[in-house]
Amino acid sequence: MSRDGILVTGGSGLVGAYAARMLLDRGEQPVVFDVAVNERLLGAVGVEVKSIGVVRGDILDLPALISAIREHGIGRILHLAAFLGEEVQRRPYSGARLNLMGTVNVLEAARLEEISRVTFPSSGTVYLGSLGEGGPKKIDETIALNPLSIYAATKAGSEFLGRTYAQRFGFEFVAVRFAALYGPSPAGLKATRELAIQAMVRAALRGEAASIKWPYGPAELLYGKDAAKGIVLACLKDKLKDRIFHIGSGEMATGEQIVAALAQHFPRAKITLVKGERPMPYPEERIPHDQSRARDQLGYEPDYLLEKALPDYAATLKKIEGG
Ligand SMILES: NC(=O)c1ccc[n+]([C@@H]2O[C@H](COP(=O)([O-])OP(=O)(O)OC[C@H]3O[C@@H](n4cnc5c(N)ncnc54)[C@H](O)[C@@H]3O)[C@@H](O)[C@H]2O)c1
Repeated sequence: MSRDGILVTGGSGLVGAYAARMLLDRGEQPVVFDVAVNERLLGAVGVEVKSIGVVRGDILDLPALISAIREHGIGRILHLAAFLGEEVQRRPYSGARLNLMGTVNVLEAARLEEISRVTFPSSGTVYLGSLGEGGPKKIDETIALNPLSIYAATKAGSEFLGRTYAQRFGFEFVAVRFAALYGPSPAGLKATRELAIQAMVRAALRGEAASIKWPYGPAELLYGKDAAKGIVLACLKDKLKDRIFHIGSGEMATGEQIVAALAQHFPRAKITLVKGERPMPYPEERIPHDQSRARDQLGYEPDYLLEKALPDYAATLKKIEGG
């Protein structure tokens, strides 16, 4: 059996659905592996579930991962399934178990099934403790890891596990460090900032007035489609010199800029931002991550800066939610 399949764990989440679409566009064979397959989201981004391999499975179930790899001729893994930041802060044991043991299972499956490359989404928050006032003027991939949250610790830990498994067992482990994601996926376990952006987009679509809690400073926001582009390139590009890449938008955005960008397309909506207490009291980012390594080696450039991303977000959300 050929080994051309690419297993996408968490393949029906925000990044996973777009990644599956992009892999199809490039003539690849994605196989979605997800504990809760979201056909609506996949359909809205143009992935016909009947036309690809789909496995409803849990990454904590190693035999299920191995069976999926064997049955679908998998040669590479894009490992996206995880609990996101605030969920891990709320439920650290479940979060650490899923994010760390889930990664160990993927790495074990890779070693046992001779997978050639595992690609993993880490987070720009792995450095947060190294970036305070007076911190570095340029944030490149060489800055010392200093996670301040349990989530970031699970991402940093997964990076080290991936690197050492890969060295020991002779496969490639490539990590991309994403900026703060946003996009039209279901809101279940998302960060409060992602939820707030989704509430703004929904209000804009409906032409309603909305008062949105926005206690956040500027942040480097990354649209789901660009995140998928970056990680798909990291999965497919041959002969990489480095194994860790920043994937972001390269621009800091404020809540007011999001409201202004939405107003250009949806002038009837009246969105007001309300200050308040931040849910997670970590230092704010000051500058965007340097992306020259991803540009030079992966050919990555963001396509969806705020003004272009928001109408695309709104159109996709409308498809998912109807109306
Ligand atoms: N949101 C951010 O700002 C951010 C930043 C950096 C990195 N990341 C990482 O990017 C990745 C993708 O993020 P996303 O926004 O697409 O997340 P998402 O929540 O939209 O998607 C995650 C998917 O994983 C699936 N999943 C959860 N538990 C599973 C399990 N036990 N087995 C199989 N599937 C399971 C979910 O059903 C969901 O479809 C995650 O690893 C996340 O940690 C996110």
